[in-house]
Amino acid sequence: MLHDTYQRTINYLRVSITDRCNLRCEYCRPKEGVSLKGHEDILSYEDILRVISAAVRMGLIKVRLTGGEPLLRRDFVDFVSRLAKIEGLQDISLTTNGILLENMAEAIYKAGLRRVNISLDSMNPDRYREITRGGDLKSVLRGIAAAEKAGFSPIKINVVAIKGFNDDEVLDFARLAANKPFQIRFIELMPISEVNTATQGCFLPMSVLRNKIMEHYQLEPLGKKKFISDGPAEIYRLSGGLGEIGFIHPVSSHFCATCNRLRLTADGKLRACLLRDEEIDLKKPLSASCDDDVLQDLISQAILLKPAHHDLDCTDRHLKKCHRDMSDIGG
Ligand code: 5AD
Ligand code: SF4
Repeated sequence: MLHDTYQRTINYLRVSITDRCNLRCEYCRPKEGVSLKGHEDILSYEDILRVISAAVRMGLIKVRLTGGEPLLRRDFVDFVSRLAKIEGLQDISLTTNGILLENMAEAIYKAGLRRVNISLDSMNPDRYREITRGGDLKSVLRGIAAAEKAGFSPIKINVVAIKGFNDDEVLDFARLAANKPFQIRFIELMPISEVNTATQGCFLPMSVLRNKIMEHYQLEPLGKKKFISDGPAEIYRLSGGLGEIGFIHPVSSHFCATCNRLRLTADGKLRACLLRDEEIDLKKPLSASCDDDVLQDLISQAILLKPAHHDLDCTDRHLKKCHRDMSDIGG
């Protein structure tokens, strides 16, 4: 078992497999796009699998694939099937914007991935296009339908709560959770890095959304965590509904005390915390075909960098706290 200096068990790795994305969400990427890394700057699938295998031998049990947009990377399905064969890895999931999911859902499922989180900040086509700077809502909706058809379970829908943008859609999303077996998760907007100037002042605490939903629906809290797949979301069942509602509040009430994760960026840096700039580089040692014990030692070093907690709050004063954008670290 891996433990950090605050006695937290670390068993979850979020792996960004590409910094590229086919969208440019306002809170994630600058309007003009980001300078993209070259092929040679990105970890190969082989190296990613090596890191994960080494970490699994140290106690890692859960991996989430993120980006950018992971489905953009070539040979993704083959990569998933290789990942699914790693013995001891108990849980593999994917975060995607869903744009390319329609044609890939079935193959990804067959390759061994069962859990998917799909980002959807608005169900209004014009607004969706606005917040993603050009995205087509219909493609995502078809992607969600394909994921359902392929058998993914659970299907989680991530909705970043943005004041003045989608707060009037809260009940529409609640209705979706009532009618479909999805988990709709509202996420507090995190004021990370400078790109967030587009959504500055748009922070909305989860308490506001929860109260709004409770005026119309009965929410039954789903108690303590049961599965390793359960994250930091506060989950409720909607009485009489098929799905669930989750609230993720990294800002108004952080869950750092139970944080069990590390992050691997597309360019091969291990990050102990989304908001801590210090990183451990794995790319160079991997390129030099380092031994497994070197790799494991670097993983241990990264874990020791985990801070007790971050200090984001509901103001925007931390805008420049972290030098990499979310798109660069992996959402
Ligand atoms: N605040 C909150 N969530 C964010 N994401 C990306 N940037 C932010 C941010 N600034 C999350 C969204 C999206 C996923 C890819 O990353 O939930 O669905
Ligand atoms: Fe792409 Fe996700 Fe960032 Fe939107 S939030 S630009 S979909 S990586």
